[in-house]
Amino acid sequence: MTGTPGMNDMYAAADFDIELRLLIEAIYLKYSYDFRNYSPASMKRRVAHALQQFDCETVSQLQHRVIHDADCFPALLQYLTIPVSEMFRDPGYFKALREQVLPILHTYPTIKVWIAGCSTGEEVYSMAIMLKEEGLLERAIIYATDINPHSLQKAEAGIYPMESMGLFERNYALAGGTRALSDYCTSAYGSVLFDKQLRRNVTFADHSLATDSVFSEVQLISCRNVLIYFNKALQNRAFGLFHQSLVHRGFLGLGSKETVQFSDFASQFEAFAKVERVFRKT
Ligand SMILES: C[S@@+](CC[C@H](N)C(=O)[O-])C[C@H]1O[C@@H](n2cnc3c(N)ncnc32)[C@H](O)[C@@H]1O
Repeated sequence: MTGTPGMNDMYAAADFDIELRLLIEAIYLKYSYDFRNYSPASMKRRVAHALQQFDCETVSQLQHRVIHDADCFPALLQYLTIPVSEMFRDPGYFKALREQVLPILHTYPTIKVWIAGCSTGEEVYSMAIMLKEEGLLERAIIYATDINPHSLQKAEAGIYPMESMGLFERNYALAGGTRALSDYCTSAYGSVLFDKQLRRNVTFADHSLATDSVFSEVQLISCRNVLIYFNKALQNRAFGLFHQSLVHRGFLGLGSKETVQFSDFASQFEAFAKVERVFRKT
């Protein structure tokens, strides 16, 4: 390993890859969280970042802690899952749902919506507010699922930092909001608390698109900015669940960089609002 510039780095990178696979396997065997089919590039970035935070020199050191220190894995999960979200993220998406999808959902006596990978809940409150404004919340059931229990707790609490409200308000207006977002929350001590009536019909639950199965038949699935972290095989698994879960002609909303188009399920969905990434089961 001497004499050739960059050689050590190359070996280090190869070792990192080996140790990363072992870490992912250890997590699966010990905690049943399955990251084996996540995109390698993003797993590498996240674990490299975690190494610094956990003060570990190698992935093997981190693996040792994950196995032997019960507090380590819940903390590591925060780095592996990217709990980042915002209300009415990509306002055009929510506008398309409001203007094009909800009028169709109005024709059902009751509607079920599944928000898969809901993170800390911003997408859930956005959806609930929109359903309320369109007169659908009373007859809606929303399933909000994620693999990160800490994020789910935050989602259920519905408390967000006051400084996020400027962005949330702007997104809400661009998404066709008909009131002021502040009408739906109260503020105290630098935080805002969303009205608990909004989550009256929301069930928050632990559910993994990598290992769990379908649990209900729904008219609309919103799964945004989750599939970008999956490899193709895992994306296909998720699309299979969505296809099974959706009613005939049900809707699937994805993130701005995600599509069903090049998956095994391409022919079983049609683009409904193409730019906004809303698809419809054929
Ligand atoms: C970047 S956040 C997206 C949040 C929200 N959907 C949005 O677009 O603002 C990705 C979320 O996917 C969740 N996630 C990752 N793997 C998952 C899996 N296998 N099943 C369900 N959710 C998963 C993470 O815990 C995280 O909360």
